[in-house]
Amino acid sequence: MIPTLLITGLVAFAHVVQGHYTFVRIKADGEWKGPLQYIRNKTSPYDELKYYEANFLYRYYNWPTYIIDRPESVRCGRDNMKHAGTTEVLTLKAGETIEIAHQREEPSGWTDDMFYDCPDDRGTCFHKRGWKQDFNHPGPLLIHLSKAPDGQDIRTYDGSGEWVKIHTLGLTNPQYNQPLNWTLYRDEPEHITFKIPEQTPPGQYLMRMDLLWSGVQSEYIKIGEDGSLAQMYPSCAQLNIVSESKAALPNGVKIPDIFQPLEPGMTTTMDMMENKKLDENYTYPGGPLWDGDKVLVDKPVVLG
Ligand SMILES: *[C@@H]1O[C@H](CO)[C@@H](O)[C@H](O)[C@H]1NC(C)=O
Ligand SMILES: *[C@@H]1O[C@H](CO)[C@@H](O)[C@H](O)[C@H]1NC(C)=O
Ligand SMILES: *[C@@H]1O[C@H](CO)[C@@H](O)[C@H](O)[C@H]1NC(C)=O
Repeated sequence: MIPTLLITGLVAFAHVVQGHYTFVRIKADGEWKGPLQYIRNKTSPYDELKYYEANFLYRYYNWPTYIIDRPESVRCGRDNMKHAGTTEVLTLKAGETIEIAHQREEPSGWTDDMFYDCPDDRGTCFHKRGWKQDFNHPGPLLIHLSKAPDGQDIRTYDGSGEWVKIHTLGLTNPQYNQPLNWTLYRDEPEHITFKIPEQTPPGQYLMRMDLLWSGVQSEYIKIGEDGSLAQMYPSCAQLNIVSESKAALPNGVKIPDIFQPLEPGMTTTMDMMENKKLDENYTYPGGPLWDGDKVLVDKPVVLG
């Protein structure tokens, strides 16, 4: 049961209309693909109300997704299955390094100069308004893969199977008694590049991309009472991974289950939320990390 006070808090958040984000672009084989090419689109505005009655009415494209939303919204973005069949499938080699880029403008405002001829070979930029494509929330970038069941076309797969985390980009040089420095929470975030593990078995996969802002708990705000829930910004690419690997994928996690408020990394102290200091034993959300070889508890390496 999610009480009314919490929902009121969410509504207050939701009024900050402008400039959240969605990952909308992939660079593979050294080339930026088109906006939303290979990435399932979302429906906007979209009504989560029917799923959870106390939820607020509608959300726009770049607005956050919460754990009280529909499971499909938490997995791959609002109404993504409606767009899956018309989304292309990107063939990639296991071991390939790719880059992704996000967009903060709502689709109705998209213009070519937000995607093409961007400085520094970025996949997105924001010439006109003088905005850089930064992130307006602190938190870790999380990349997960989920393999479609054998014989099932990825364009019909809803992500209800297991997900394996293959990349996290979190804190820069974390120290227990220093302010936090989130790697992507900067005026000019670095390029988001990562590798599809070489050991990934061949097959069709969803790749979930998210930069998650954890929820908060304090003396005054308790989990499940009145407080804030983590904000998620998921979107999913449809991949066909070509691979020589005979390895098996490790066991994964289920979504939305792993993003419940009591799961590791999903709720922090107020101090951590305000970037004042790192919580003891903080673990990045989204389950353990597979480095292609081992499955690791996904924690920042704290310098002291
Ligand atoms: C993606 O969805 C948005 C909002 O629903 C819509 O405005 C836009 O035209 C769609 N884009 C593509 C490429 O389908
Ligand atoms: C965060 O780390 C970056 C990269 O090392 C550095 O340039 C920046 O000054 C740091 N910010 C703070 C507030 O320490
Ligand atoms: C620390 O975090 C790990 C991973 O999330 C968890 O398994 C463990 O129980 C935590 N330890 C304590 C003392 O909270």
